[in-house]
Amino acid sequence: MAASELPGNIVEPAVAPGRVAGLGHLPRLVRDPFGFFLSLAELGDVVTILIGRKPVHLITTPRLVRSVLLAGGEVYRRGRVFEKATKTFGGGVIVAEGEAHRRQRRLMQPAFGRHRIASYVPEMRAAVERGVAKWRPGMVLDIPRVTHEMAVDSLVHSLFKADLGTGAAERIMGAFPGVVSGIMAHTLYPADWMERLPLGVNRRYQKSSDEVRAVVDDVVARSAGSDSAEASLLNVLLKAHEQGDGYDEALLRDEIVTLLIAGSETVATTLAWVLHEIAGHPAVEREVVDELTAELDDAPVQPSDLARLPVLDRVIKEALRLHTPNWLLTRRTTEPTTLGGYRIPAGAEVGFSLTALHRDPRVFDSPQAFEPDRWLDDNLAGFSSDAFLPFGVGRHRCPGDTFAWAELGVAVATILRDWRLAHKPGAKVRELPMVTVQPSGLRMVVQRRPL
Ligand code: HEM
Repeated sequence: MAASELPGNIVEPAVAPGRVAGLGHLPRLVRDPFGFFLSLAELGDVVTILIGRKPVHLITTPRLVRSVLLAGGEVYRRGRVFEKATKTFGGGVIVAEGEAHRRQRRLMQPAFGRHRIASYVPEMRAAVERGVAKWRPGMVLDIPRVTHEMAVDSLVHSLFKADLGTGAAERIMGAFPGVVSGIMAHTLYPADWMERLPLGVNRRYQKSSDEVRAVVDDVVARSAGSDSAEASLLNVLLKAHEQGDGYDEALLRDEIVTLLIAGSETVATTLAWVLHEIAGHPAVEREVVDELTAELDDAPVQPSDLARLPVLDRVIKEALRLHTPNWLLTRRTTEPTTLGGYRIPAGAEVGFSLTALHRDPRVFDSPQAFEPDRWLDDNLAGFSSDAFLPFGVGRHRCPGDTFAWAELGVAVATILRDWRLAHKPGAKVRELPMVTVQPSGLRMVVQRRPL
């Protein structure tokens, strides 16, 4: 169906073809989300799809995504994905709105400053070293699990300077899949009452959210009252709570859960994809290893080294493009508005896929290919950096972007210096869109380097 014209050149978005009674476009979305998203571009810059009977207006160009994310005032609030995540995140910064959101962002901002990030590097490295210390030549690793463990360990020790205590990391790891599949299932259910059905995914979502909260309760209990002068983010949050700075007991916990999940899920998934792509591109692997050998020699990676590793930087950037973690994000309008000439009513759900935007052939040549050299200055003529937004933009832009770059750089450098990873023969890697796009089935065999 074509976009229908309204007075004053404002049009209604076209409705995507192929909907099924009762389910809308859900079958197409679940079967092949990125193929589906990319097919919408030819229908317009904004296209309506139905999840059940609920319309979602999907944006297909980076220009309009930016204009929504940068819109001033209060026209766009957090939408469906975030609403369905409140079971886990409560009132944490990722779901907060308005003045509360501004206050929560302000409080955490210093913990993400460049100098502070540099000071986290030794803890980030130690977390990766603890992980690889368990590897033996010939071992087959479940990579998403390994990278999750490293990311949680690294975040807790660097940003929070906390000790989780025995078994806590395993409990968090065990709970993550239930949380991320629960948020996605509740987002995509064609009807809200399905959240109350006695389905495994619903039960797991509740149980896993409770489990993450229980672990965070332990962390808070262990840290509260300790007069540690260490300027960790955990201490900043605890102090804000003690001083009654708008952080009641519940919000304190919500914030820690939010940072724990937002900060480890994304990094872990990206690191897993980086290892997958490096193993699949021997020439890229050679280049990264040669650069590490030349720049680091045998020394452990230091904060100042990261700026001297341009090949590694391009590899991470390309993984963030091809495997952008946040595949579906939403906003909801508070009033009628127009978006790029399309009419959007009040209370409407607006969605976009950063992953699909980064695979758009109108923006990137050979978008499905992993080509780190596309980021060389010489190859960027005519490319607008506005079209690359893995960390979002605007007031909800990721506060952890610099943290993530540092952690990914440290992890890849530390792993690749001593280890070579190859896909387990016969392993089939599949994209699994949960809250992030996960590399399902990624099993790899490790060998010591040099071989
Ligand atoms: C590869 C790594 C990462 C990617 C690709 C990523 C991506 C994003 C994106 C796209 C958003 C904006 C969502 C929106 O506008 O709706 C976001 C928000 C957020 N990210 Fe990240 N992130 C990463 C790592 C981290 C890390 C390491 C942390 C913390 C340690 C973190 C904490 C957060 C938080 C708290 C928000 C919510 C901010 C707000 O609503 O104001 N992220 N992230």
